[in-house]
Amino acid sequence: MNLSIVGGGNLGVAIAKGVREANACTKISVSRRNVSKIRHLKEIGISVTADNQECIRQADIVIVAVKPFQVERVFDDIRDHIDNKVIVSVVTGKDLDEIETLLGRKTSIFRAMPNIAISQKESMTCISYRNGNSDQKVMVENLFSKMGEIIFVDDNMMDACTVMAACGIAYAMRFIRAAMQAAIQIGFDSNAALKIVTQTVLGAAQLLKANDSHPEQEIDKVTTPKGCTIVGLNKMEHEGFSSSVIQGIQHSFEAIDKIKLQ
Ligand SMILES: NC(=O)c1ccc[n+]([C@@H]2O[C@H](COP(=O)([O-])OP(=O)(O)OC[C@H]3O[C@@H](n4cnc5c(N)ncnc54)[C@H](OP(=O)(O)O)[C@@H]3O)[C@@H](O)[C@H]2O)c1
Repeated sequence: MNLSIVGGGNLGVAIAKGVREANACTKISVSRRNVSKIRHLKEIGISVTADNQECIRQADIVIVAVKPFQVERVFDDIRDHIDNKVIVSVVTGKDLDEIETLLGRKTSIFRAMPNIAISQKESMTCISYRNGNSDQKVMVENLFSKMGEIIFVDDNMMDACTVMAACGIAYAMRFIRAAMQAAIQIGFDSNAALKIVTQTVLGAAQLLKANDSHPEQEIDKVTTPKGCTIVGLNKMEHEGFSSSVIQGIQHSFEAIDKIKLQ
């Protein structure tokens, strides 16, 4: 299977690297206008071009990874060259109706919302689709599931998916940074702090996945009555930890309409 990615920016390049790393496609090509910025991809066997039509010529799947305001121009370029190709948009905020209207034709369209951990084959990718047959669905499912976890969702959940999975990377990073600041305050240098915190967060996530458990079940295992863990956790809650995470996520969700125009 051959893959093309139109829009070799942060996410497009992360997808290309993840696909290469996972050996998920035979040929990968990536386009952007300023092609010099992605020439380095050639070193890992990925073709690059500034010509979108050339980029998609041999593709079975075309991933469109540009900003919302750039998508119309890209569709103008590729509209007449997508017969028998599966189109996957990762563009934030453009729902399947809008994509179909912008494309100006009825074709199988998938929408995927991965995050940049796709470069490490650890993405959380939410997918919706229209007019796709079962072979195409399996094709898209197979592609993204080689680079992390996937779920299929109704298209009207994609904004929520964007906030939880794509923005979620930044929220997790901010927790890591805060814990590092505390680690340095109690005696570790920055390198040790980063190592301790990242491995601990990774371990916590692995426990939940391996045990199929709720966070509170795992917390119960490490909170001794009157111990230092529960004291710290309760202080975090008194200072508004859960409340600020919930409010931040809600705020991102309410702001997503504004970025649809950017
Ligand atoms: N970053 C994330 O974590 C993430 C996660 C999920 C979804 N998304 C969504 O994915 C999309 C891309 O995000 P991003 O962060 O990767 O943005 P980005 O870094 O700005 O990448 C967009 C790329 O598209 C290229 N481009 C623009 N117009 C083009 C055209 N006509 N033909 C070919 N390439 C063109 C740009 O390069 P040139 O200017 O050189 O052409 C740029 O490299 C956005 O809609 C974003 O909301 C991002």
